[in-house]
Amino acid sequence: MDGTYILGIESSCDETAAAVVKDGRTVLSNVIDSQIEIHTLYGGVVPEIASRKHIEKITQVIDAALKQAGLPLEKMDAVSVTYGPGLVGALLVGVGAAKGIAYAADKPLVPVHHIEGHIAATYIEYPELEPPFLCLVVSGGHTHLVRVMDYDCFEVIGRTHDDAAGEAFDKVARAIGLGYPGGPKIDKAAREGNPAAIDFPRAKISGAEFDFSFSGVKSAVLNYLNQCEMKQMEVNRADVAASFQQAVVDVLVERSVAAAKRLGEKRLAVAGGVAANSALRKAMKEACDREGIALCYPSPVYCTDNAAMIAAQGYYEFIKGHRADFTLNAVPNLTVGEDRF
Ligand code: KG4
Ligand code: ZN
Repeated sequence: MDGTYILGIESSCDETAAAVVKDGRTVLSNVIDSQIEIHTLYGGVVPEIASRKHIEKITQVIDAALKQAGLPLEKMDAVSVTYGPGLVGALLVGVGAAKGIAYAADKPLVPVHHIEGHIAATYIEYPELEPPFLCLVVSGGHTHLVRVMDYDCFEVIGRTHDDAAGEAFDKVARAIGLGYPGGPKIDKAAREGNPAAIDFPRAKISGAEFDFSFSGVKSAVLNYLNQCEMKQMEVNRADVAASFQQAVVDVLVERSVAAAKRLGEKRLAVAGGVAANSALRKAMKEACDREGIALCYPSPVYCTDNAAMIAAQGYYEFIKGHRADFTLNAVPNLTVGEDRF
């Protein structure tokens, strides 16, 4: 059987996921068991519940990924797993499972940085995409502009000084009563609203032109809601959602395109959960078309957490010879650009 087959395992937050990917690009299976229902009851991810759910599901999810790929474990060339960043108890379940499998089946164990995995999600549907390129990574915990120099070499050129974009979506959704998970709910509510109804701030960071700050726009929404309450004005939730979303989208698009132009990058990728946002996708496409920048956007299923992206990055780590031994541990606060292998 020709080709290199990687089993990917992901459990850094509230999705238990496993996938089989061939040669870093062809997805043979992508199984995701989402815990959204249970965390919705609490208005956000409860770390201990996340770990417990991962431990219940991980074996079935891995089994399903191999079955759907139609390949036995023996055919895998390596087992790749997210080792950070993320919730420590959640990460440990995936790391423990991957170690067990790698040991029992005598397979190489390949550690993958979760954010590098998000970037690798762009390879799946863009077979011609190869480094170097610029990538905006926007997730629940991260907002970074990254120059992807090689498959295993990253330079961070912009970052958030406070909240991540996804975090701002989640907090604003909670404040306007849309609940968890905030991003998709704001995306949906915003379709019925007027993005120009309220002029929320678009923060710039002096001296760091590619950096971000989202705590100001979040506070502005909270202030607006307080004022409405004090004046006994009814809140139009769709307008608040649309105006907030527009403020975040404007900043993400403006800074990404400015960075691409400044660095002479002709290709921009957008990855991470917030990359699933329909307004961001539309605005980024229009701006890139205007500027002659080729835009690579994974389908929404590859933007939010999944294991296909971990297997994709795992492939490139594998062919570059990166391996972990059985002392591998979870690293919850691993930063972008810091990969320990
Ligand atoms: O990448 P991801 O699945 O997990 C992390 O690594 O954090 O990202 C989750 C984040 C959450 O904050 C969620 O609200 C946001 O991505 N998100 C969205 C959308 N779908 C997910 N934000 C805006 N619009 C969406 N459609
Ligand atoms: Zn993620």
